[in-house]
Amino acid sequence: MQTAKRFFSLEGIDGSGKSTQIDMLIEKLTAEGYSVVKLREPGGAKISERVREILLDASFKGVMGDKTELLLYNAARAQVIHEIIQPALDAGKIVIADRFAWSTFAYQGYARGLGAGMVQKLTELTCGSCFPELTVVLDLTVERSRARTVKRGEAPDRLEQEKADFFERVRQGYLAAAREYPECVAAIDADRSPEEVFGDLYKLIKSRL
Ligand code: TMP
Repeated sequence: MQTAKRFFSLEGIDGSGKSTQIDMLIEKLTAEGYSVVKLREPGGAKISERVREILLDASFKGVMGDKTELLLYNAARAQVIHEIIQPALDAGKIVIADRFAWSTFAYQGYARGLGAGMVQKLTELTCGSCFPELTVVLDLTVERSRARTVKRGEAPDRLEQEKADFFERVRQGYLAAAREYPECVAAIDADRSPEEVFGDLYKLIKSRL
């Protein structure tokens, strides 16, 4: 994949601390004078947020086909690239995404079993060269993830209703990505204090700025 400078994403199973780390990162980079755009996926643009509602709607559990899911994630992504990410990168800004195409690789490719080949073909169509130069995976065991998310007490969405073995495959997908594409995917241990995790994350991002 061709990658885009100053475009970064964070990945991990639920409870890995992505939101906290992204907030810390943005605060630090902004204080250093960088102009940073943050977004989440699926979402980040009005149309993409509408697609997100369909994707996460718990009433579609057992109804939505795997290929429909794959295409909808890509549709949401195509729009946020078009409307938000590419214009921000063209303006010299840093873009930080809470999830991006490596989620599709791990969830649809690995955990749903659609395969890396199909996901890659579609990713090339959706992203072109608008692909993060570096993705940091916050790695956590499924057990620790469950313990952290149960504490939140929110009703699970369609994806969150999947069983532990699904999330184990997601985790293995992320770890495989870090092994196979070390130049653009780095995995760090998320089962530490937010400050310790941030130390590693910050170093990785700064090495590309
Ligand atoms: P979240 O933003 O609350 O993490 O919810 C997004 C959910 O969608 C999460 O369960 C991961 C899943 N997902 C995919 O399955 N494929 C994708 O390409 C993306 C971006 C997210």
